[in-house]
Amino acid sequence: MSSSKIIIAPSILSANFQNLQAEVDSVAPYADWLQVDVMDGHFVPNLSFGAPVLKWIRTNLPLDIHLMVSNPADRIEEFLALGVHHITFHAEAVQDENKRKALIKAIRDGGATAGIAINPETPLSEVRSILSDTDLLLVMSVHPGFGGQEFLEDVLQKVTEARAQHPKLMIQMDGGVDDRTAPLCIRAGANNLVSGSYIFSSQDRSAAIASLRSS
Ligand code: DX5
Repeated sequence: MSSSKIIIAPSILSANFQNLQAEVDSVAPYADWLQVDVMDGHFVPNLSFGAPVLKWIRTNLPLDIHLMVSNPADRIEEFLALGVHHITFHAEAVQDENKRKALIKAIRDGGATAGIAINPETPLSEVRSILSDTDLLLVMSVHPGFGGQEFLEDVLQKVTEARAQHPKLMIQMDGGVDDRTAPLCIRAGANNLVSGSYIFSSQDRSAAIASLRSS
């Protein structure tokens, strides 16, 4: 398991949108990244938000854009223009290897790090050949589209395999991550955890985030 620090990235999909800035402020002192779930209602059955909302958020947290969209190449410029730290797209949305590599290059050329995500049903072999050319692998532990779903433990073997092959790769997990499942993720080799409903349903967000860091 990578000995590097565990990155905790609250997902604002589960935040109270009536007070989004206050919700971000409530986690900013304790979190490492802030994950923004961009959903197009086509790649996933839900619709969330995009750059027009994100541009109003003020935070020093590095912004982690998770593109759950059918045409991610069409979306990166608006987020790069906001100076986001990281952009992840889904392997299922970009089937061609050369297009995946071109998109990773475009994200990096735009000043962000690049990640590729795989859904629970997608085998690690689907992205094996590109993992040496990306900054992050996101292994989804729920079927994307909604917060508050149950953690799918079967995906942990993909994390273990990816960690064995790429000791230095940032491996992120997303979906159903809470104080029970976070240790499973870390022990499998993940070093970046996204958590939405667990953190934003907690009264004590400092304690909730701290509880995710231990294995
Ligand atoms: C699901 C999103 C996740 C989700 C995490 O499609 O990608 O980021 O918001 O929420 P929880 O932690 O509640 O599963």
